[in-house]
Amino acid sequence: MNIHATLAATSSQSRFLMCPPRYFAVSYSINPWMDPKAWAGGAPALHAKAEQQWASLHRVLREAGAAIELAEPQPDLPDLVFTANAAVVLDRKVILARFRHGERRREEPLFAAAFAALKARGLLDEIVRLPDGLMLEGAGDCIFDARRRMLWMGCGFRSDVGAGAALEQELGLPCVALPLADPRFYHLDTAFCALPCGAVIYYPQAFTAAALRAVHDRVAPAERIALSFADAAHFAANAVCVGRTIVLSSASAGLRRKLERRGYTVAETPLDIFQKSGGSACCLTLRLDHTSCAAPDIGQTAQTATAQRS
Ligand code: ARG
Repeated sequence: MNIHATLAATSSQSRFLMCPPRYFAVSYSINPWMDPKAWAGGAPALHAKAEQQWASLHRVLREAGAAIELAEPQPDLPDLVFTANAAVVLDRKVILARFRHGERRREEPLFAAAFAALKARGLLDEIVRLPDGLMLEGAGDCIFDARRRMLWMGCGFRSDVGAGAALEQELGLPCVALPLADPRFYHLDTAFCALPCGAVIYYPQAFTAAALRAVHDRVAPAERIALSFADAAHFAANAVCVGRTIVLSSASAGLRRKLERRGYTVAETPLDIFQKSGGSACCLTLRLDHTSCAAPDIGQTAQTATAQRS
């Protein structure tokens, strides 16, 4: 690779924040997936498996070309591993999360310190707080759609609909609120994923009628990838996209085919232990490098592939 190619590769490299699962456990219940008694029954083995599944996710993301920053795990904060909820990050600006439940509110100062450290290293520019009283559980409920240059915000269970106006003001992009209907899909990223090509993976039954209308008004039928209950229940919407690779816990053959037909490589890495806490691939990562002005990376990759073929 010559110096220009190297620079281009570095500058467009996806960067994520993750937190090792050293203290991961299901010790309280704030969503229907969490059963502390069942966890306690098999804790040592479950924890060992969580460590191994997280390490595999980390490896798969690195192999797909991502850079990973790490937050320091802390005892008694088992959900710190779900860094997607830490903040909304766009254009090097961080909007810190405010959590609905006391169990997770204790994570806020730790994530704030992690972002301050990233800023000190020059990876971020600005860190802001939401107006008092507003709840917003970070990128878990706020999904950047690179192709439409907008934000989709889940609300109803964890985040307040009113946070949308604050996001618009801070980030200068339109934000469409999607009220959620099913407590099993309590964060938007459990039921919705906006791919860089403009396609959207979603589980329609997770949304209220108004939310579905808002999605269908903006996403053409050919760009909708509706999940079966089986795929949704395995958190297939909770996917992470790195360039042309889609990383997720598991996908049916049908879903895999639909994604491959659009030019993606599907990388499955089992994360069922984290689903016992209501999370999967996307929840375990926070994208730090999204920019609202750049062309989505899939476009560039696809163009390069076409140019190479001709
Ligand atoms: N146990 C965590 C909670 O209920 C899981 C968070 C999953 N994160 C996500 N982005 N969906 O808050």
